[in-house]
Amino acid sequence: MQPKILIIGTGGTIAGMADDAEKPGQYRAAALSVAALLAGVSGLEKAAAGPLDAVQIAQIDSKDMHDGVWHALLEACDAAMRDEGVRAVVITHGTDTLEDTAWFLHCCLGRLPKPVVLTCAMRPANALMPDGPQNLKDAVAAAAACDADGQPLLREVVAVTGGGELHSARWLQKVHPHRLMAFASGEQGPLGWVDGRRLRLRQGCAADTQGAADGYTGSQWLAALPQPAQKAWPWVEIVSSHAGLRAGLVDALLSQGVEGLVLATTGNGTVHEVLLSAAERARQQGVAVWRSSRCSEGVISDAVLPGPADLAADLAVALTPCKCRVSLQLALVQAQAQA
Ligand code: SIN
Repeated sequence: MQPKILIIGTGGTIAGMADDAEKPGQYRAAALSVAALLAGVSGLEKAAAGPLDAVQIAQIDSKDMHDGVWHALLEACDAAMRDEGVRAVVITHGTDTLEDTAWFLHCCLGRLPKPVVLTCAMRPANALMPDGPQNLKDAVAAAAACDADGQPLLREVVAVTGGGELHSARWLQKVHPHRLMAFASGEQGPLGWVDGRRLRLRQGCAADTQGAADGYTGSQWLAALPQPAQKAWPWVEIVSSHAGLRAGLVDALLSQGVEGLVLATTGNGTVHEVLLSAAERARQQGVAVWRSSRCSEGVISDAVLPGPADLAADLAVALTPCKCRVSLQLALVQAQAQA
């Protein structure tokens, strides 16, 4: 039997229901099961060019995303990567923290042996013109797409479909609160486009593997990451540098036991003088502090993609604050596992 595409449901607006279809802005996210979503999209098996299966690992509004769901998602992806009966994975997810989850999977899974494509929607499932069914079909078509040798076109890195575009986890950001085309990859642009059937990769555009390990690392990360129900993952917060800043926030976090701080800096890595001294106090207490720019495009001039060896450094990181938070949390997990 031909291997299947596994659809993993986590909730979001794609599974949302409005009380009144004419008021699609007022709805409850995560109301429909992933099985119900699949049943509502015609021609999905054709887009998959083979069988599909669905598994629900969570049912949440992604604004409430937490380590428990990430652990379950990594577990499901790792099992699928090692299962010969699965040829690709599609994940349905809310748009609000999609980039955090995509980056988490990118970092943990490393170079993928099979496609992993996340998708979402900006309108609930019963809106007059929902975008979820098309986005899901696009994700399935992208996951199924093969080159002339029958090899998956999307290999190695986690990808995301929305509004007919395909983005890599490395650069994807939600850039609009309600537009249908809510995602962008800044100066990099999308990886390609998909129309429910064909995936067209942008000419000369290679998926960005930066930040992913050389080989497949899903099983190693699964062993390293604590079961959140038994032990919390390291606590990392984002503190924004802004006009009128007061130092009390960092001191409050330090007194509560925060283990890592991401400073969302102004412009090219600068920090309000009040936050600068608070960050120094944090470092002296052994708290890791990394910097990331709050600018919506580009990265700080001397920024790098860090690893656990960089925990003690005053480092400018080439990631958005949300993704930097994920990377710092993972670096702390690695450092604690090696201690
Ligand atoms: C969510 O992120 O779960 C709700 C918002 C959305 O999916 O657009």
